[in-house]
Amino acid sequence: MEQVYIKQLAQHEGQEVTLKGWLAQKRDSKGLAFLVLRDGTGFVQCVVDINTVGEEMFEAAKRLTQESSFTVTGLVRKDEKQFGGYEVQVKALTVYSISTDFPITPKEHGVEFLMDHRHLWLRSRRQWAIMRVRNTIIFAIHKFFHERGFVQMDAPIFTGNACEGTSTLFETDFYGEPAYLSQSGQLYGEAMAMAQGLIYTFGPTFRAEKSKTRRHLSEFWMIEPEMAFYDLKMDMDLIEDFIRYVVSDVLKTCTLEFEVLERKTDYLSRITEPFIRMKYEEAVDVIKGLKAIDGKTSIQMLEDDLQALKTEIATKQKDIEEREAKIASGTLNKGERNFNQNKIDQLKNDIKDLNEKATNIPEWLESARDFVRGDDFGGSHETVLTRMFGLPVMVYNWPREVKAFYMKEDENDLGYAKGVDLLAPEGYGEVVGGGERETDLNKLTQKIEEHKLPMEAFEWYLDLRRYGNIPHSGFGLGLERLVAWICGLQHIRETIPFPRAYGRLLP
Ligand code: 4AD
Ligand code: MG
Repeated sequence: MEQVYIKQLAQHEGQEVTLKGWLAQKRDSKGLAFLVLRDGTGFVQCVVDINTVGEEMFEAAKRLTQESSFTVTGLVRKDEKQFGGYEVQVKALTVYSISTDFPITPKEHGVEFLMDHRHLWLRSRRQWAIMRVRNTIIFAIHKFFHERGFVQMDAPIFTGNACEGTSTLFETDFYGEPAYLSQSGQLYGEAMAMAQGLIYTFGPTFRAEKSKTRRHLSEFWMIEPEMAFYDLKMDMDLIEDFIRYVVSDVLKTCTLEFEVLERKTDYLSRITEPFIRMKYEEAVDVIKGLKAIDGKTSIQMLEDDLQALKTEIATKQKDIEEREAKIASGTLNKGERNFNQNKIDQLKNDIKDLNEKATNIPEWLESARDFVRGDDFGGSHETVLTRMFGLPVMVYNWPREVKAFYMKEDENDLGYAKGVDLLAPEGYGEVVGGGERETDLNKLTQKIEEHKLPMEAFEWYLDLRRYGNIPHSGFGLGLERLVAWICGLQHIRETIPFPRAYGRLLP
């Protein structure tokens, strides 16, 4: 029989289908086995009844171990209680291969162990959900740009020049000459926009980040539109439309994935509201607590947050004590005892999380107060700023010194570059960086010298200013940063099938 995929089960309600896949979980009792089959498109419970399939097939079902591969033929039944809404009543089952000692068991594993087994970890329900969201995001990105008439063009990976400064370059040997893995396709994007008007690149980029952080990878995917005749304002409008489009699309499409990830979408759902836009100087005032938002400064907000956390911890602590007293009293039956013990364990976990949050706040407070005007933002500054709004915040007009050589100086605001960063709420921070490009040939050559970049490698780039110079703008979205935010992940390592980061090259 032709293979049907789990995702299509709704179209086959009441019919007999054949599914092929692997065993995710199993439970059996007298004469009944419950097999959770996964086939890449989803997970479905298959019920094997000895009275239907006979003893031999039932024994085969019972022998299936985690990640054994098999096929079932059976009847599709609607069942609202099931994940995905359907169940299959098995009539026949065939085994492809029995898996022995699959390393990732339902018990808890440390993250390093899981990372070492990434090639197998990808099969878990949670990783499956993340990769599905990633795929939906990618598709939405292409849809957005194609609907607006952008042409996708590819920038090279081997490059002869630095785009984002020399500190994070990966050097390779290109036929005896040094070459660098691309940090950004932007400079090529500018050349392509002069040929096609509206373009975007979508490719891997490389940064030698010699530190382990929850938002840096050595290899990540960047989407870089570049638009002829766009100024900074138009650039920001496009960023806002773009992010809203992608997030809204995922919210509509990925409900099942969000269920798996236990992702609360209250913040994401606010994506329809206008994003906050403010100049760097104003953002600094907000971060340092010099400017109140809705009557509250950042310092007051953080102090209130800390107080609220402490109250929540105390309430949970009291709840634990009451439940412990009940258990100790000896008046509870076994079921009630277990129920209360489970609750206690859960509360203890909650308290652990809350305590962690509570220790962050004083650090944020300090770094907000101590922020030096003129510096680039760190993660904690971005967190404090976005927390004031609960919405994406676009910060523009940055001090020229902290931004790349190609950023246009604002003629009405000398010393400031027309760059923009989009900061995501919920502690995710920068997901987009972009801006209007410098068009003044002299200022550009001067900047290249100041940044100590080799002029000869940039001659071709300067040609873009020599022949038909025009105002233009663009931006770069870090795909993995967006996946992390949308999925609500603690760490960027889970956002890409095989992450490459400092200390991580295998598998
Ligand atoms: O802000 P960045 O460095 O900007 C550029 O590269 C520009 N040339 C883009 C442009 O205007 N065409 O990087 C853009 C985005 C960041 O906002 C962040 O989301 C992501 O790329 N990014 C990283 N993601 C993961 N790991 C890293 N090490 C990253 N570095 C930057
Ligand atoms: Mg940046």
